[in-house]
Amino acid sequence: MPTKPETPAPTGPVTSTDAVVEAHDLEVHFALQGSALARLLGRRGRTVKAIDGVNVALRRGEVLGLVGESGSGKTTLGRAILGLVPATAGSITYHGRDRGDVVVSELGSRDLRALRTSMQMVFQDPGAALNPGMTIEEAIGHPLVIHRKLKGAELRTRVCDALERVGLSPVERYLGKYPADLSGGQKQRAVIARAIILEPEVLIADEPVSMLDMSVRAKILQLMLDLKDQLDLSYVYITHDLASAKYICDRIAIMYLGRIVEIGPSDEIFANPRHPYTKALLKAIPEPDPDRMLPRDLPRGEIPDAAVPPLGCSFHPRCPVAVQECGWESRDLRTLLEEHWTRNPGATYDAERDMVGDLGKLDKPELSAHLGVTDSQGTLALLNRIRAENPDEPFWRGVAGIEDDGNGVRLEFHQPHDPALRPAGGVEVACVLYPDERENEKT
Ligand SMILES: Nc1ncnc2c1ncn2[C@@H]1O[C@H](COP(=O)(O)OP(=O)(O)OP(=O)(O)O)[C@@H](O)[C@H]1O
Ligand code: SF4
Ligand SMILES: [Mg+2]
Repeated sequence: MPTKPETPAPTGPVTSTDAVVEAHDLEVHFALQGSALARLLGRRGRTVKAIDGVNVALRRGEVLGLVGESGSGKTTLGRAILGLVPATAGSITYHGRDRGDVVVSELGSRDLRALRTSMQMVFQDPGAALNPGMTIEEAIGHPLVIHRKLKGAELRTRVCDALERVGLSPVERYLGKYPADLSGGQKQRAVIARAIILEPEVLIADEPVSMLDMSVRAKILQLMLDLKDQLDLSYVYITHDLASAKYICDRIAIMYLGRIVEIGPSDEIFANPRHPYTKALLKAIPEPDPDRMLPRDLPRGEIPDAAVPPLGCSFHPRCPVAVQECGWESRDLRTLLEEHWTRNPGATYDAERDMVGDLGKLDKPELSAHLGVTDSQGTLALLNRIRAENPDEPFWRGVAGIEDDGNGVRLEFHQPHDPALRPAGGVEVACVLYPDERENEKT
C-alpha cells in the first residue's frame, strides 16, 4: 500500500456541528418468518438484531471505517444511513450542506429518493452494479437523466468530466464500451464515476475493493482519497480488511453483533487496541493476504446467533479475558460440555453424554442452568474434571455456585453487565475492563 496522504480529518470527539450524518440509538431488527410449521403452530418468528443500539457520527471530510466479521451489521448500518432499510428504533440525522438537517429515518419515499442524490453507495461487485446492456456513457449519465433531466451536450460534458476524474481517459475510448469490455478495476472506476456524478456529500463504500485484483486495490483506494479531497466528500468505508482500513480511514468503528464495541482514531486503534475483540482482529492481520482477515485464533470461533445474542457482553463466549460479570449463562454450559467432548471423544463421550441427559433445555438463555440428572454426584465430578482440565477457562469465573438441588445439578451465574461504549484513553470502548473515564472525573 502507498503511504497515507498527509491530510487527515480531525480525530477528537465528534460534535453535531461537524457531523454530516449521525445515528442516534439506532436499531434495525429484521423479523424472520420462521418455518411454515412454526407459523401454523402460532409460534412467532425470530428477530435478528442486525443493528442493536448504535450511536455514531460521520464528520465532514473524514473516512470512517466500519470493520467487523461477517454478520456484524456493517452493511445494514450503511443501508440504514441511506434510508434503504427502515430503523426499528432510534434515528439517523443528515446535516446536508444545501438541505439543512433532515431526519432520514422519518422521510417518505419521494424525499428519500431526493436524499440519495446527496448520499450514494458503492457496492462490492462492480459487475453486478452496472447494467450489462448500458454503455458506460449511459450508465454514468443515468442518475443525471433521472434526477436532473439532463440530455444532449450538457449530459455528455458531465459524463466526460466524471470519467476524467476517475481516471478512465481518454474518455472517447470508454464512452461507447459495455461493462463486459472493462476490467474489474475499470468497472469499479465507472461505478465510482456514477456515484459522484450527482455531486453527493457522502459515499458509503461497501467492500469496494474486495473483489478486485490485489494489484488494483491500492489504486482504487488512492482514487477514492483523491476524490474525497477534490470533491469535499465524506466516506463510510465498510470492510473486514483491516489493512485497507488502516490505509484509508481516519477513524475506525469495530462492530460486533450489531454494536460498535470500539471506536477511535485509526492510528490509535492500531497502535493500542483496547477491546479484546479488536485485539483478536488485529492479531489476525495476515501478511500479505488481506482476504484472509479472520480472527482465526479466537477461542470458539463461532459468531453467535444475532437473533438470540449472548447475555451481557455479546463477545463473552469468545473472549479470552472475560470476567465474572460478562454475561455467563446456560448456553455457555452446553458449549463447555461440547468442547470437552470434542477434546475427549469415544467412550468418554458416550458415557458422559448419557449421564448429563438432555442439553436442549440449556438453549434458552438463563442465569441458571439445570441438568436434570439421576447421577448428581457423577455429574458434579464430571464438571470438576472439566474444570481441572482447564482451570483458566473464563467460563468458571462466571459461575457463582454449583449444587446438587435434589433433582439434579444446578449452576448459578453472576449477574451480567452489558457494557456501553465509554471513553477510554482517546477511544471509546464497550468492555467492563475499561472503567468509564467520566466516572473518574466526577469523583
Ligand atoms: N434483509 C435481511 N433480512 C433478514 N436478516 C438480515 C437482512 N439483512 C441482514 N440481515 C442479518 O443481519 C445481520 C447483519 O448483516 P449485515 O449484512 O449487515 O452484516 P455485515 O457485517 O455486512 O456482513 P458481511 O461482512 O458478511 O457483509 C446478519 O445476521 C444478517 O443475516
Ligand atoms: S466485557 Fe470485555 S472482558 Fe467482558 S466479555 Fe466483553 S470484551 Fe471480554
Ligand atoms: Mg456486508
